[in-house]
Order: sequence, then structure tokens, then C-alpha cells
Amino acid sequence: MTVPAHVAIIMDGNGRWAAQRGWPRIKGHKAGVQTVERILEAASDAGVQHLSLYAFSTENWKRPPLEVGALMALLRMYLRMFLHQLAQKGIRFHHLGATEGMPAGILADMRTLEEATAHNTGMVFHLAVNYGSRLELAQAARRCVEDGLRPGEINEDALSARLWTAGVPDVDLLIRTSGEHRISNFLLWQSAYAELYMTDLLWPDFGSGELQVALEDYAQRERRFGGI
Ligand code: IPE
Ligand code: IPE
Ligand code: MG
Repeated sequence: MTVPAHVAIIMDGNGRWAAQRGWPRIKGHKAGVQTVERILEAASDAGVQHLSLYAFSTENWKRPPLEVGALMALLRMYLRMFLHQLAQKGIRFHHLGATEGMPAGILADMRTLEEATAHNTGMVFHLAVNYGSRLELAQAARRCVEDGLRPGEINEDALSARLWTAGVPDVDLLIRTSGEHRISNFLLWQSAYAELYMTDLLWPDFGSGELQVALEDYAQRERRFGGI
């Protein structure tokens, strides 16, 4: 079976999962983190080389301060707990997103996790926090100018090399849970030729079995990249 080298997931539906049970949204986010642990393990076992998980977008700051605060607190708690699981599986951690506007404590924890896992040789786990594709592209363009590139030197390779995903292969399989059919500003450039897999399952209900279904579906796809 052809295993996608890079799987990206828009983890959506935590709020609705909680609402269905009459619970506050944050309980959905807590359940969602447990899914992250399951999927990390399943993706690594399946031989995926890069797993990008969309945890918090640049647009998610629009949410009520109480929810944003709770999400940040949850993130901080789990960043500390992830280390053990990442070490066990030889997974490398990478923060995907802008540092500007992020709480300093979380940035420090993410840096620590990156350093502690830098020598792991297994799957790379890219956690998208404060991530927005348009922001990423705008900063890549700005960096081209700062690096003194002439107009003729600003091409696809020059931009790719200045994205937060520099050196990471393009997304092969893009999964979104919760029944929405949209990209919501995630890896727009990197997903130019990604195969899409949308499921109605809410993120806390997504499991290793469903990931396997998505991987099998992907293996059946015929990718053409504009050719014949
Ligand atoms: C996804 O779940 C997690 C984040 C965006 C942080 P949501 O919080 O978007 O859940 P729904 O879409 O409201 O159900
Ligand atoms: C996308 O989910 C962002 C994350 C999963 C982090 P949203 O719930 O924010 O997306 P929209 O608002 O439904 O497009
Ligand atoms: Mg949502």
C-alpha cells in the first residue's frame, strides 16, 4: 500500500461534540487532545513521515477570551505530557506557525520540545498553532525582499524555502473531520496537489481505524499532478 509521506489534518468538531452532550466546549477540546495521542501513534506506526495537525489558527483568536485561554492552558499542559510519548516513538516535534502574538510560556515549551526531540529519527509531528497560510505566504514574500532577492529570483523554490514548512514535502493527504468541506487557511500552498479526505466524524470520535480507512482510500487514488 502506498503510504502518504505527509498527512495534514484539520481537527474540527470538538465544540459540537461537547454541545451534543450538553457540556462546555472545553470538554470537547480535552477529548480532542486524546484523539491527538491516538493519531500520533497510529500515523507513526503506519509509516507516515510527516504529520501536520491544525490545532489553532490565526483566525481562532476571534473566539471568546475564555475559550482561547482554556485552549492555551490545555496546550501548555499537553506539551509537557507529549514528551514521553514522542520519545517512546522516536517522533520529532516542530511548531508550525507564527511566534508573534503567542504567549511566551507556550513558545518556550514548544522550543524545549523541539530541542528535546531534535535527534529523533521517526515521524515529524508538526503542530500548527497560531498558523495561517496567508500570513505564512506574506512573511515568505517579505523574507525574499529582506534576503535581497532580485525580482527574477523570486520563484516557487525561493518562496517554498521561506515558508515555515521549508524542507518538508508537500501534503499528500489532507483530512478534515466534522463534515465541513473547507480548508480554513491551512497549508494552502503545500496542499496544491493534496488528495482530500473529508469525514463527518467529529474530531474526538476520530480514531486509528478511521485513519486507516483514509490511508486505504488514499492508496486507491490516481494522482496526476496535471499530467495524463
Ligand atoms: C476544532 O474544534 C478545534 C479548534 C479550532 C481549536 P472546534 O472548536 O472548531 O469545534 P466546532 O467546529 O465548533 O465543533
Ligand atoms: C479550523 O477550524 C482550525 C482548526 C482546526 C485549528 P475552525 O473551526 O476554526 O474553522 P472554520 O471557522 O469552521 O472554518
Ligand atoms: Mg470548528
